[in-house]
Amino acid sequence: MSIVLSGIRPTGNLHLGNYFGALRNFKKMQYENECYFFIADYHSLTTHPTPADLHGNVRQVLVEYLAAGIDPEAATLYIQSDLPETAELYLLLNMNAYKGELERVSTFKDKARKQPDNINAGLLTYPSLMAADILIHRSHKVPVGKDQEQHLEMTRTFARRFNRLYDVDFFPEPVAYNFGEELVKIPGLDGSGKMGKSEGEGNAVFLAEDPKSIRKKVMRAVTDSGPTEMNQKKPEPIENIFALMKAVSNPDTVAFFDEQYNKCTIRYGDMKKQLAEDIINFTEPFREKVKEISADEDYIRKVTKMGAEKAHASASKTIKEAREIIGFRPF
Ligand code: TYM
Repeated sequence: MSIVLSGIRPTGNLHLGNYFGALRNFKKMQYENECYFFIADYHSLTTHPTPADLHGNVRQVLVEYLAAGIDPEAATLYIQSDLPETAELYLLLNMNAYKGELERVSTFKDKARKQPDNINAGLLTYPSLMAADILIHRSHKVPVGKDQEQHLEMTRTFARRFNRLYDVDFFPEPVAYNFGEELVKIPGLDGSGKMGKSEGEGNAVFLAEDPKSIRKKVMRAVTDSGPTEMNQKKPEPIENIFALMKAVSNPDTVAFFDEQYNKCTIRYGDMKKQLAEDIINFTEPFREKVKEISADEDYIRKVTKMGAEKAHASASKTIKEAREIIGFRPF
């Protein structure tokens, strides 16, 4: 049995990228492994949200996690800031995290470019906080999208460094994991890059989005004027539409449009119409559930309380042992 942990920052509604990167297939997994799902609200402080936005977004992600099928009785679903042991482990790991290696992390360089007036220490030490999330439960597997690969590499480095420094075999070296062979990157609708909330209006399709809006966004997705030669290589925007279709449609549908593309008879309008309907079908049960769970304040309170207690049981054990290893021992 593996210890599996997955985290999402509360920045708004979950999109298809989050689902395929971090959540797919866990329905079965949560009954076969020790699973932790958490909302990374400490991490969101790097971008200075207002208290109201922070609270609302944490609630939204919690509801969406549940709507996506997490069973809070089987798995442990918790809010990061309900587990201050994470903050303590973050402090301990930071003592062996070096400025040079932190500055080389590509997400740090990206963020520093995007928010030049707010390059705070939290942003620089983001990988140590993420390592603390993972190592606090001594996790083995971390379902994530491709964009988190480097953070996982850092986590392994920190785990190895701690073990070596204290000559122990305490932290496992966790792997990024995505059910298939490869980590996934779900593309956005704007013709380039990944699906993401901050990538611009219309780029992301949300799991709880209403069908009308999904149709509108998908129909506006960037395409080109069509293939001119049989079997030609697909340019990025077209490859992206196919990648989205592979995620939500059945394989016959993908094969049908693939053949049309190869024969130069494809009509992107038809393909996008089909894609929109398939996304709507795929997300339908999710939308219903979000409404239902969101209205149940008692249930939300109960779930967060239970999650905090279960997470604490595992985290306090790790912290107690780590403190002893380091030399913080009672007199
Ligand atoms: P975040 O909140 O940006 O994204 C949450 C998860 O969704 C995945 N993801 C995608 N996967 C495929 N294609 C996409 N277009 C796409 N967009 C997002 C991300 O890879 C991620 O798995 N640092 C993390 C949050 C975090 C965390 C952790 C994750 C904090 N501590 C510990 C795992 C373990 C983040 O910012 O993800």
